[in-house]
Amino acid sequence: MATAPSPAAEAPPLAVRDLTMAYGDNVVMRDLGFAVARGNIFIVMGGSGSGKSTLLRHMIGLQEPAKGEVFYGERSFTRSSEAERNEILRTVGVLYQKGALWSGLTLAENVALPLEEYTKLPPAEIRSLAHLKLSLVGLAGAEDLYPSQISGGMQKRAGLARAIALDPEILFFDEPSAGLDPVSSRRLDDLILLLRDSLGATVVVVTHELASIFTIGDDAVFLDAETRTQIATGHPRELLAHCSDPKVQRFLRRGEDPARAPAK
Ligand SMILES: Nc1ncnc2c1ncn2[C@@H]1O[C@H](COP(=O)(O)OP(=O)(O)O)[C@@H](O)[C@H]1O
Ligand SMILES: [Mg+2]
Repeated sequence: MATAPSPAAEAPPLAVRDLTMAYGDNVVMRDLGFAVARGNIFIVMGGSGSGKSTLLRHMIGLQEPAKGEVFYGERSFTRSSEAERNEILRTVGVLYQKGALWSGLTLAENVALPLEEYTKLPPAEIRSLAHLKLSLVGLAGAEDLYPSQISGGMQKRAGLARAIALDPEILFFDEPSAGLDPVSSRRLDDLILLLRDSLGATVVVVTHELASIFTIGDDAVFLDAETRTQIATGHPRELLAHCSDPKVQRFLRRGEDPARAPAK
């Protein structure tokens, strides 16, 4: 009896295959491979200098692999032409480690920039979209302020409003809570969860902040600077409960020796 062919499993929105990253002859990480599932918040974790930011830059085309490929769905980003890459990057939003707002522009003007660059919307509509995005991140009423007039936490949220200006399918964050106090940092985590849910976006977060990792992470990869490769993947709480690698345990327990950690 003939049966309808089962539909091929959907390719993950983002995947890294057999990736080696290097600066000249200096290999930072080799043999990286993982897939980011749709709608997940995926954490890239590891100690400082392990290559987290370098990995993020590879995923958005700011650096080229020494070996291996980055995929968006079925498409190899690495093998794409510049025009194809731009088309893919149009569906991506990035919040860089150092806020990166234009200091000479108001918050509304900062958020309007990508809309002006990538859409043909009339100015009034761009203004109203910029206001909408700012209100989504809790900055209604701050549209006409300049970055220097607001706190670090508000600057991060304004950067986030700009990152979501074009309704991205994938959002990248590099150390979003760096330099924030614990309350602002928690607020940013809540906002990342809210945006993932309301935009239906897939989120990649580079961080070494344990509080964030356990609050927002659905899945994770651990980069180990010593062996220069990934030594664990999985849900952060599952890794905490079951990963047998002592380096991963030390990291997730903030340096505490797992053998002596109190039973939870
Ligand atoms: N522009 C660069 N040129 C050469 N080496 C670099 C450069 N940027 C980073 N590195 C090296 O690559 C490694 C990983 O850096 P990075 O990706 O910034 O780590 P992380 O974000 O995990 O702290 C580090 O050893 C760092 O010294
Ligand atoms: Mg970094």
